[in-house]
Amino acid sequence: MSEDGVGIKDRVAIFDTTLRDGEQSPGAALNIDEKVEIARALQEMGVDVIEAGFPISSPGDFKAVQRISQEIRNCTICGLTRARQADIDAAVEALKDAARPRIHTGLGVSDVHIQHKLRTTREKALEMGVEAVKYARRFVEDVEYFAEDAGRADPTYLYRVLEAVIAAGATVVNIPDTTGYTTPGEFGALIAGIRDNVPNIDKAVISVHCHNDLGMATANALAGILNGARQAEVTVNGIGERAGNTSMEEVVMALRTRRDIFGVDTNIRTQHFYSVSKLVSQLTGIPVQPNKAIVGANAFAHSSGIHQDGVLKERTTYEIIDPRDVGVPDSAIILSARSGRHGLRHRLAELGLILDEEQFEKVYERFLKVADQKKTVDTRDLEAIVADEARMFFEETYHLEQVQVSCGSQSIPTATVRIKGPDGKVVCDADHGTGPVDAVYRAINRVIGEPNELIEFSVQAVTEGIDAVGRVTIRIQAEKPVNGGVRRVFSGHGADTDIITASAKAYMFALNRLIAARREATK
Ligand code: KIV
Ligand code: ZN
Repeated sequence: MSEDGVGIKDRVAIFDTTLRDGEQSPGAALNIDEKVEIARALQEMGVDVIEAGFPISSPGDFKAVQRISQEIRNCTICGLTRARQADIDAAVEALKDAARPRIHTGLGVSDVHIQHKLRTTREKALEMGVEAVKYARRFVEDVEYFAEDAGRADPTYLYRVLEAVIAAGATVVNIPDTTGYTTPGEFGALIAGIRDNVPNIDKAVISVHCHNDLGMATANALAGILNGARQAEVTVNGIGERAGNTSMEEVVMALRTRRDIFGVDTNIRTQHFYSVSKLVSQLTGIPVQPNKAIVGANAFAHSSGIHQDGVLKERTTYEIIDPRDVGVPDSAIILSARSGRHGLRHRLAELGLILDEEQFEKVYERFLKVADQKKTVDTRDLEAIVADEARMFFEETYHLEQVQVSCGSQSIPTATVRIKGPDGKVVCDADHGTGPVDAVYRAINRVIGEPNELIEFSVQAVTEGIDAVGRVTIRIQAEKPVNGGVRRVFSGHGADTDIITASAKAYMFALNRLIAARREATK
């Protein structure tokens, strides 16, 4: 038993794959510094394993796994590989400095994967898996085996594969519902079947890795845990390929809140959830839906009079989780133009937003401007300001100095922009468009000349009221391939009380990322 009375068998290891499966979300590409920043936050939060990337997939992924291995000392660092020696060699090299390295290798077990993707037979696939585990075990002691598409596989074949890879040295066996196909009853039964039918299963930890195509990723992961899985593979905010992965905050809070049912806990410091959710959303450019469980803006908001009355009398009438347990800030603290640096710094620290002096001064200046326009500046205004200033985390090649727009019901929307280029030269240009945002984007394009397609544009009022800070999130797709022949997607965000300015900032943000990626690819 540990000091909190939870035995080791009652502990579910949290394996975070935000930086690997999560980063596979369309448009979520993160640069190396951003990945390291997220890895630091995951370590602080108490995550057991960080899947830092797929080292052979790109030089950027390789470097990210390498840097995270060097800097993060309190978590197991994991690198993904296919069941191939070259992949494993790359992972071994990238993980060389990790305090606790893990190789995550494997291949498909469903007939559809074996026949159509791997174009081989069950027997050959089984042999390849065993060989990969044996090879990986030459370099590291901790080898996790993923049985891809286990949710649609023939269970008797799956049992054979698991028995063979455990005999070959796998320490963890990952049972992915790769396509999000199973229901909780089926997935729970699959894990129970593995425990009953794989003779050497006591030599490995069972891990669950669920996708959310039918909205059941969290329910399926919990069903797996109820049936004996002791590792859950999750992402912050549930981001990931297609409809995403199991969300970390949902699984952890379900285990904690319904300990009476699950009887297990995790090492996670749940007070970090809110700030880590914000960090991941800001850096990936993927907004959190307001009604998202645990970390959504409305997760603890009570709007009906009956509910407000109940909560004011006794919080637990309508709240099963104390918001402070997941780090949701107390929105009662109101900041205004009269708040000094001390008040602002204190509030930022409460939100988990630790800035250095230079960053703080920039945020303070922006805060005063917003406070002049609004009576009060609340938590979400502040987060929008800090997110906008976080653009300083990456190198800005072009800087937007000024944007001016003229539009109205009888006029042609026209925009003028002033942009400082990499050589320090300031260029002014103008264009017209179908609307004010289109005009601004066209004017920016005239100066920067990086052809791209706008594939998503969304505006959110970060706070209520006519004077709210607006937050714009966009995604653009490069017209010319950036590297490896792919037309990559880049996200950008910007916040301002003027949504045209916020739109211009978001576009500049995405364009600067595209330009930085192009520069990195040609190095
Ligand atoms: O969904 C999946 O099967 C995966 C594996 C690579 C673990 O992400
Ligand atoms: Zn996956």
